[in-house]
Amino acid sequence: MEVIVQRDYAQMSKVAAQIVAELLNTKPNAVLGMATGSTPLGLYQELVRLHEKEQLDFSRVTTFNLDEYVGLPGNHPQSYHYFMHEHFFRHVNIPAHNINIPSGTTSNYPAFCEWYEKRITECGGIDLQILGIGTDGHIGFNEPTSSLSSRTRLKTLSKQTIDDNARFFERREDVPVYAITMGVGTILEARQLILVASGKTKAKAIAQAVEGPVTSMVTASALQLHRDAVVIVDEEAAARLTMRDYYEFIYAAKPAAPRS
Ligand code: GLP
Repeated sequence: MEVIVQRDYAQMSKVAAQIVAELLNTKPNAVLGMATGSTPLGLYQELVRLHEKEQLDFSRVTTFNLDEYVGLPGNHPQSYHYFMHEHFFRHVNIPAHNINIPSGTTSNYPAFCEWYEKRITECGGIDLQILGIGTDGHIGFNEPTSSLSSRTRLKTLSKQTIDDNARFFERREDVPVYAITMGVGTILEARQLILVASGKTKAKAIAQAVEGPVTSMVTASALQLHRDAVVIVDEEAAARLTMRDYYEFIYAAKPAAPRS
C-alpha cells in the first residue's frame, strides 16, 4: 500500500484527482468507481476544474457508485444519486447511460445486487475505485464484521455510522438504517484503489486500516490485500500513523509522483 501525506485537504484532493486524470489520459474509456461523503468533494471539484479548464474528457467513461441508502428516491437531497448529480455528474460529460448507482428503491434487492455485480463484469471491471473511510473504518457501507469477501448486498448501518451521518439529515431518526453497498470483495477486484481521508476524526481509522491487522472489524484494512492501493491523507488524518517518515521518504524519492 502506498501512503501519501499532504499538508491539507486541498492538496490531498489535488493529488487524488491527478491520479484519476492520469488514468483517463492513458485510458479514456476507463471504468471509475465513485464514492460519496464529504471527503471526495474536493477531488470531484478538481476533476470538474480539469474538465472545464484543461479539457479532461469523460465522454467514454463509465461509472459505478459504491452505495446508496435504502428507501431514498433519487431526487431526495440526501440520496447518493442526488449527491453525485449535484457535485459531479452535471458538471462533466459522462453519458447518462454510462452512470450506474445502486438503487435505493428497487422492489427486489437481491436481484438488483446480482444485476449490479453482473453489470460491473460486463463493463470490464472497475479500473479505479475511489474510496472514503467511515470513523468506524468502513469502506462503502461495509460496517465492522462485514466479510472481506462480501459482494454487493443490503447492509444494516452501525450506530456509529448513523450518528456520523445524522448531520446531513434533519433528525437522527431520518437516517436510513439500511444501505445497498458493493462488498469488500467487489471493491478489492478493482484494478486500482485510492482512499482519501481528511481531519482528525479519521486519524484512528486510518492508523488501523494502514498499520493495524487485516480484520473485518475495520474493513478498510482489506486494502492491505490489494496490489495497487493508495491512501491519500492530510496532516490531521495522518496524525496516528507511526511510519509517516517512511511514507514521506518513499514519496519524495518517487520521480514521477503527482504533485502540484
Ligand atoms: C458514508 C459513505 C462512505 C464514506 C463515509 C465517510 O458512510 N458510505 O463511502 O466514506 O460516509 O464520509 P465523510 O467523507 O463524509 O466522512
